[in-house]
Amino acid sequence: MNLFRNNRNYTNHSAFYHFRFPCHCSSMALTGSLLAIAFLFSFSGFLGFGISYDRPPPRNTLSVPLSDDLDESSPQQVHISLVGKDKMRISWITEDETPATVDYGVTKGAYNFSASGSVSSYTYLIVYTSGKIYDVVIGPLEPNTLYFYRCGSNSQREFSFRTPPVELPIEFAVVGDLGQTEWTKSTLEHIAGSTFDVMLLPGDLSYADFYQPLWDSFGRLVEPLASQRPWMVTQGNHEIEKIPVFHSQSFTSYNARWHMPFEESGSDSNLYYSFEVAGVHVIMLGSYTDFETDSAQYKWLQADLAKVDRNRTPWIVVLIHAPWYNSNTAHQGEYESDGMKKSMEGLLYGARVDVVFAGHVHAYERFARVYSDKADNCGPIHITIGDGGNREGLASKYIDPKPEISLFREASFGHGRFKVVNTSHALWEWHRNDDVQSIVADTVWLRSHVSDPACEV
Ligand SMILES: [Fe+2]
Repeated sequence: MNLFRNNRNYTNHSAFYHFRFPCHCSSMALTGSLLAIAFLFSFSGFLGFGISYDRPPPRNTLSVPLSDDLDESSPQQVHISLVGKDKMRISWITEDETPATVDYGVTKGAYNFSASGSVSSYTYLIVYTSGKIYDVVIGPLEPNTLYFYRCGSNSQREFSFRTPPVELPIEFAVVGDLGQTEWTKSTLEHIAGSTFDVMLLPGDLSYADFYQPLWDSFGRLVEPLASQRPWMVTQGNHEIEKIPVFHSQSFTSYNARWHMPFEESGSDSNLYYSFEVAGVHVIMLGSYTDFETDSAQYKWLQADLAKVDRNRTPWIVVLIHAPWYNSNTAHQGEYESDGMKKSMEGLLYGARVDVVFAGHVHAYERFARVYSDKADNCGPIHITIGDGGNREGLASKYIDPKPEISLFREASFGHGRFKVVNTSHALWEWHRNDDVQSIVADTVWLRSHVSDPACEV
């Protein structure tokens, strides 16, 4: 994949509260006072940064403007996500309203199928109004097939994606805490450099942090990848964007822009859902919504796990944002980690979940199979992969000595590959961003619980 096609210009700015509003956004200038409030909240512990620690200098933040050859009716920020067993949601944004239709087919330039959907927009802090946000579900689609498509009948831009396979093997790219910096660009280039079927993102996407035009910039930054493979995401603390008195609703932008298939999995919230692809049941949990044992999310998780058919999906993978196991000094003692673990770890253990991916800590760490803080062969492997490259830099301090259950830990940017080969085996690789190189720095073969008679799945 050519990640940075369309001759995009990348401009750097040193602070996220840069005051230039791109001309394609129907936004008015934020007042200095509102921005100061947002800034204050973002660094006051409001986002869950209870523990202070030193991070190495981050790389420059990117701002991705609309390409000069596009206009107000051009589709931008295109991304796709899985819906059910054979459908795909196509999401995009325009400045001016255009038809909410997607034309698609298996031949370049020839679109034998068409589907219609909805259009919406949102306001934030009164002064920002988003572009028109489109949501169109297409299908049924053939598995492992290249499709070409165009959005809103606009023939300026043709996109393509490949559907995932219907059976194993399948390959996931996994990365959290992406943001939009030179490090993010490096990570995305490494992800684009080889084949994969589905992207899994355990929260913290744009790091817009209240400054809504950065959501648009992020959408344009990831479009080359996210328009070609489904991006399945869950939310992190940077998606909350609630400001008491000024904006009382949480997740406004995230929910408007990143509609995940929660309805299809019986969930009542875009903040937690599940889906099946090939032989893998993937559960996306919400670290920043209620998770106690009497919560809707807990009851939904209980019901969802009870419905899993291990003959159809021998692997169960769970994504959260705040890690339940973490030997980095960053983000210790947060309720979203410890409280959620206390509430839900027993459910995951009882269901014999194979792997739990988390973000939040800006580093990489792989644990042994664990349950209740001890090594346990029937527990999941916990992996922190919050090293996508955001503007906050790395979390480089670790608790000493290293806990025995922590098998590999390193504060470097990178991403993961989860290659589920068959019913019994999967290969996990952690790719470190070694400047321009992508280096496989940690690799391990995983065995599924269904293939281990001792775990009584
Ligand atoms: Fe986070």
